[in-house]
Amino acid sequence: MTITAPSRVHDLVDPAILYWGTPVVLVSTLNADGTANLAPISSAFWLGHTATLGFGLASHSLANLQRTGECVLNLPGPDQVSAVDRLALTTGAEPVPPWKAANGYVHSRDKFDRAGLTPVPGRVVAAPLAAECPVAMEATLEAVHLTDHAVVQVTVEQVHVHPSIRMAGSERRIDPARWRPLIMSFQRFFTLGDEVHPSRLAGIDEEAYR
Ligand SMILES: Cc1cc2nc3c(=O)[nH]c(=O)nc-3n(C[C@H](O)[C@H](O)[C@H](O)COP(=O)(O)O)c2cc1C
Repeated sequence: MTITAPSRVHDLVDPAILYWGTPVVLVSTLNADGTANLAPISSAFWLGHTATLGFGLASHSLANLQRTGECVLNLPGPDQVSAVDRLALTTGAEPVPPWKAANGYVHSRDKFDRAGLTPVPGRVVAAPLAAECPVAMEATLEAVHLTDHAVVQVTVEQVHVHPSIRMAGSERRIDPARWRPLIMSFQRFFTLGDEVHPSRLAGIDEEAYR
């Protein structure tokens, strides 16, 4: 019997970046002078109430997080895409780090103002929430792992959401049919499309994860 290997269906490629599509997070932190910094990132995932975030080593937000031990993770939707894009190529760091300066980044002192977003006070951390973002999570720093980037773990302490994305009839649940995250994929902005299939995982009550 001869066994024929299945023919290859993939091309072997070497992408410079692996931005497969993740939600944009606007990270607010406090600067040393008490003003707020706000930076878009898209390297973020959630495990229980721990968020794991990826920052470039020259990020001013990273320095603020390490100094203060806290931040707010604001999740914009498609309505905030212009605000997010106004923050692109800006940094709270002064002077602007050499790689960023060479690639067109500029220093911005008041990034809430630049973005056109409204700072509102948090409940447990000093960094402000962005009022226009449907989700804002106050978080405290757990760990920083330094590689060629900084892999940062924070614990989500308080979750604030706009009433419009809450599940009707539930005190705690978010309605995924109403929540539309802003997704960055290979340096372009998208959002989620329609639900494509029921999930068998939904047979487990969300409360079982508590
Ligand atoms: C949509 C978007 C996603 C980004 N994702 C990341 C990211 O995941 N990690 C990161 O370090 N920088 C990311 N950046 C670049 C940062 O915003 C940039 O480094 C910025 O200067 C950080 O601001 P800061 O220096 O004030 O912290 C992203 C920028 C945009 C516009």
